Amino acid sequence: MPSRIRLNTDEVRNAIDQVPRFALAHLPTPLEPLRNLSRELGGPTIWMKRDDCTGLMFGGNKTRHNEFLLGAALAEGADYFVWGAGVQSNNCRQTVAACRKAGLPIHLVLSRAHLDGQVETQGNLLLDHLMGASIEFVDEPVGPELDALIADRAEQLRQQGHRPFFWNRNPVVQIAAISYVECAVEIAEQCQRKAFEPVAIYVSSCGSTGAGLALGAEALGLKAPVRNIAPLTWPWDTATDMAEVASDAAERLRLPHRLVAADLDVSEHYIAPGYGTPGPGCLEALQLVARTEAILLDPIYSGKAMAGLIDHIRRGDFSSDDNIVFVHTGGTPVLFAMNNLLADSIPRQPGPFGD
Ligand SMILES: Cc1ncc(COP(=O)(O)O)c(C=O)c1O
Repeated sequence: MPSRIRLNTDEVRNAIDQVPRFALAHLPTPLEPLRNLSRELGGPTIWMKRDDCTGLMFGGNKTRHNEFLLGAALAEGADYFVWGAGVQSNNCRQTVAACRKAGLPIHLVLSRAHLDGQVETQGNLLLDHLMGASIEFVDEPVGPELDALIADRAEQLRQQGHRPFFWNRNPVVQIAAISYVECAVEIAEQCQRKAFEPVAIYVSSCGSTGAGLALGAEALGLKAPVRNIAPLTWPWDTATDMAEVASDAAERLRLPHRLVAADLDVSEHYIAPGYGTPGPGCLEALQLVARTEAILLDPIYSGKAMAGLIDHIRRGDFSSDDNIVFVHTGGTPVLFAMNNLLADSIPRQPGPFGD
């Protein structure tokens, strides 16, 4: 059963301060009102928590995650990172950036399984190269097979005398979730300073980001539910997994709170047409936010989360007096890797001089 012990923001910050950390991010990230977008939608005031501005190599949620992952790695004397995911991984790009800041070498094992072997040096991959990661492309799909390869590479480095820290979902997601407890603290502090109480917090997540926010919201007693708009469906129950991640993070923080699946609000309604492919709602959200606020969303995560929020506003879930916080988790380099698909989908603005 979740406990109902309420802490203040200083108490939660104090718990976070006990955990090893390596400073990387520009914090707190701004919380800014999207007045043009709110007016355009004729609904509540949308406030954007600008975690796309965490400050390191195009920013994003993983900069926060990596403060605690690097903290853990350095505390255990790691001298090498081995990481991996899909070729256009935001996670890998951010982890390379974090390693560069910490002066650690990093080897990436990147899956090209979903690309029919075609790898274009664009977007996140271009940035990985620029930052000097060593990169190995493999045909194993993202998941257990890729994870096994990563563990194998780490083992080889160990045999060469290194102390590698490597991608391994557990404990990486639990450690990463701690960082979003702090994001919840920032949101609480910023909303208080701006004298409003949000009715909901929206975020793109099916893992550590939303789990950390939910734990932070529970510990602080925030009234606003954290609405996780999932970018993908896991082979396991996402809410149960996120509750476990949140509870594990709470243990690491020595907080008494424990979450269960019912505490996690997860929507899988906005994934279509599938993970990694933007649908019409996402494409509309990308254009609307770019055209009203000059802010870039990404076509895989934040674009779909914004599509969910827009849909909830249009179906009448909120009044114009309400305030909503939307956490922008970054991911924008992928826009450049999807240039052709996006260019084909964006209607051209007619000019004042005809065609
Ligand atoms: C830009 C962006 N937003 C959101 C997420 C979701 O994060 P998580 O499910 O790990 O909380 C990711 C994960 O890769 C991401 O790259």
